[in-house]
Amino acid sequence: MQIHETIAGLRAARARAGRVALVPTMGNLHDGHIALMTQARAHADEVVATIFVNRLQFRPGEDFETYPRTFEADCEKLAVAGVDHLFAPTEAEMYPQPQTYQIEPPPEQAGILDGEFRPGHFRGVATVVMKLFQIAQADVALFGKKDYQQLMVIRNMACEFNLPIEIIGGETVRAADGLALSSRNGYLSAAERAQAPLLYKILTKVADAVRSGSRDWAGLEQGAVLELQASGWIPDYVALRKKVDLQLPSAHDSGLVVLAAARLGSTRLIDNLEV
Ligand code: PAF
Repeated sequence: MQIHETIAGLRAARARAGRVALVPTMGNLHDGHIALMTQARAHADEVVATIFVNRLQFRPGEDFETYPRTFEADCEKLAVAGVDHLFAPTEAEMYPQPQTYQIEPPPEQAGILDGEFRPGHFRGVATVVMKLFQIAQADVALFGKKDYQQLMVIRNMACEFNLPIEIIGGETVRAADGLALSSRNGYLSAAERAQAPLLYKILTKVADAVRSGSRDWAGLEQGAVLELQASGWIPDYVALRKKVDLQLPSAHDSGLVVLAAARLGSTRLIDNLEV
């Protein structure tokens, strides 16, 4: 695997490559990321992974400084997964001057759900992803469905800007007890880790109720919030939404997704299930 720290280095490699698949990450790679790398291989001649902890998408007081940085271990995993190129720029390479031009996704997509609790987060994500797309010039890019709203924002950005790149969503990879794999799971204490699969269990219950015919969206959401609170979680939201645009469903809508974000101790976990 070739490691590129500069944009010029990656661009030179890209110019020599055929069809390229891009998998952007912030590192601290787990099996969910590796599944995306494997999936990427099926879509391209060469796979480019990126590792960059993007300051722009963190709010003051969030975990930018403490976000786990495990570069050596990540490189080993990527090499084993058969990734061809790793783009791992410094902050000075990505943002040599303040990033005054930014992508502002529409509030009806980026100001809801996670965007309501992390204002500006999706502006930071869309901006860095747009830069990575311009730098890597890939034919296809893969993002995990665990960050469902992020995937929607990126898809819509690529569509509305006519970017010549195909966006593919990868299925969420879970631990045996159902917990969605996430770099932030590493923040959990042993007791919290034992409690963490409750989020998936509650989402499963809501999804099952919808599949069995319930259309009481508000009642299902409220029941889930109360159940999380009863176990000591602090939920930001549990929300049933339309898969296509994450807007509120009517009673007749199908193609739904139930999404949740909740704090367990000091760790904020997100998860979702398509219904
Ligand atoms: O999902 C992530 O890890 C990040 O939000 C991404 C897409 C790499 C942008 O920094």
